[in-house]
Amino acid sequence: MRKILLAGNWKMHKKPSELAAFFKDFADKAELSQTSVQQAMELLFAVPYVSLQKAAELCRPLGIQVAAQNVHQEREGAYTGEIAASMLKDIGVGHCLVGHSERRQYFAETDEQVGQKAKICLDHGLKPIVCIGENREQRESSETYGVLERQLTAVFEKLPDLADVTIAYEPVWAIGTGLTASDEQAQDAHQFIRSLIGERYQAEVAAKVRILYGGSMKPENAEGLLSQPDIDGGLVGGASLKADDFAAMARTARRLAAKL
Ligand code: PGA
Repeated sequence: MRKILLAGNWKMHKKPSELAAFFKDFADKAELSQTSVQQAMELLFAVPYVSLQKAAELCRPLGIQVAAQNVHQEREGAYTGEIAASMLKDIGVGHCLVGHSERRQYFAETDEQVGQKAKICLDHGLKPIVCIGENREQRESSETYGVLERQLTAVFEKLPDLADVTIAYEPVWAIGTGLTASDEQAQDAHQFIRSLIGERYQAEVAAKVRILYGGSMKPENAEGLLSQPDIDGGLVGGASLKADDFAAMARTARRLAAKL
């Protein structure tokens, strides 16, 4: 049984001084005091580095997890401005996004580096959320499967197993654009990803790995997407910045989880 994971990705938004008010508002609106929330599903926020420690303190009593948005692929060294996996672990961070399309696009991260980042996370007890997805031209020229396979294979090369790994399918053309993959398009890609995992590892592994959908997920489309058999949660950018919207999505996810 795969538990739904609803993850917010704040990108370069919100200051540390804004966290307390946000999480209080979110916890009220998502009705987090109901103990069934954490049993039925998981909530996570990927926040900027400078907010990690404070977010972890505020989120712990709420049963919410906190993730970094990036990590350097080396253990340590002369890499000015970078952050190592061991440092994240040291301040109580449990998860880390790797290979987000904005990192690939604006910071030239390669498939190989994304694989190395996933590996260094696991080596230090951090759970990586590995982001993959095709851009608009690739979708229009029917290269979606090829791109997903290439990006995933680079990660598979580095990882002997996928326990503690989450995959996020994020079609680049749907990120921050208001365009969302249809339920069918998303399910199709997720099913393909799961089949690749099954071929590389084993059917039991494929059945256990959570695959999140990301790309303009919002209260209006969350239910349809989260109801698909191979969609196990969401990685939510814009809508996770608004307590009202993300709380509405958390309530939807909890309702669906209760039916599973
Ligand atoms: P979006 O971002 O929900 O604003 O499209 C998703 C993401 O980039 O993780």
